[in-house]
Amino acid sequence: MEIERVLLTQEQLQTRIAELGAALSADYADKTPVFIGVLKGAVHFFTDLTLQFPHPCQYDFIGASSYGDGTQSSGQVKLTKDVMTDLQGRHVIIVEDILDTGLTLRFVTDWLRSKGPASLKLCVLLDKPERRKAKLSADYIGFTIPNEFVVGYGLDYQELYRNLPYVGVLKP
Ligand code: IMP
Repeated sequence: MEIERVLLTQEQLQTRIAELGAALSADYADKTPVFIGVLKGAVHFFTDLTLQFPHPCQYDFIGASSYGDGTQSSGQVKLTKDVMTDLQGRHVIIVEDILDTGLTLRFVTDWLRSKGPASLKLCVLLDKPERRKAKLSADYIGFTIPNEFVVGYGLDYQELYRNLPYVGVLKP
């Protein structure tokens, strides 16, 4: 395995996700929000986070990709799957694995905002603020991490490592 070290253990992830779930539960108790997961990296975060939300809510998914096969963003964002839910007047929470340059989420938030939601917030598991190119910040953040390429818990390198139960730093 090409993992240099574990950055966030399974236990650290679950503890923090429970806190995020509690914050969302307080803010959206009576709003029936639509959680929108960004495929594919957010899958594990999405399922663990929504299980911590005990109020009525709906799920949807959007597909976007900006990375080629490497560890650097291509800068080009492509929509690979649109949402199915009518978002007009709805309270939307975008759930994403990582906010890096911000180019992907800039594209996704602009796209979803054009569908007329009543509100739109961003919840990310990881934030790498050092690499930001787009003017964008998240409303709910799991962990702020240094500028290192990480894999696991949904995050991939060339489509591998998504199934690691922890977040680790890949060997250079
Ligand atoms: P951004 O557009 O640069 O903010 O990148 C967002 C997307 O790039 C995320 O959804 C990830 O799929 C991918 N990404 C960014 N940083 C990493 C990383 O450290 N490991 C794995 N994927 C990453």
